Amino acid sequence: MVLHRTFYLSVAHETDAPVHLRSIVPRAREFNARCGISGLLVYDGVHFAQILEGSLAALLPLLSRIAADRRHTRFTSLFTEPIASRGFEGWALGYTHRPQARQDIVRVLDSPLTNYGEAVKLARHLADGIQIRTLHGRGGVAGEQQP
Ligand SMILES: Cc1cc2nc3c(=O)[nH]c(=O)nc-3n(C[C@H](O)[C@H](O)[C@H](O)COP(=O)(O)O)c2cc1C
Repeated sequence: MVLHRTFYLSVAHETDAPVHLRSIVPRAREFNARCGISGLLVYDGVHFAQILEGSLAALLPLLSRIAADRRHTRFTSLFTEPIASRGFEGWALGYTHRPQARQDIVRVLDSPLTNYGEAVKLARHLADGIQIRTLHGRGGVAGEQQP
């Protein structure tokens, strides 16, 4: 099986997002675990950024469901690409609240000419923060953080 990862940004329904997250994340973890999907969901207080990894057969139908989900808007797919190994092995869906990521997310979301390099940099930046925190043992493992 060829592993792929996909990365998108969207705009959350700001006032309802905390309530939505409490139902989205536990269900997503169950589904993703069953389908061999791992990933990270970042909420910056306004936007969602999500990286998902797995087989294309599992990812594509999930992505179209997420894109059609009315709990967010402006779903903007940035890339889907093959990967050699998972970045979020063992995390059915890590969750983290990262207000400090907002500026970078807005820059990529608002640029009509968003290029692949910028998108990859943003995905790496979001993931790096998590790994550093996990390594230093602060805030626990992101995969266990509650929305
Ligand atoms: C920002 C966001 C991220 C989501 N991430 C996932 C996910 O990783 N896995 C998942 O199964 N559902 C996720 N969902 C929920 C799906 O959009 C959808 O509600 C779920 O797959 C159930 O589909 P159904 O309502 O058509 O049965 C997410 C929703 C939102 C708004």
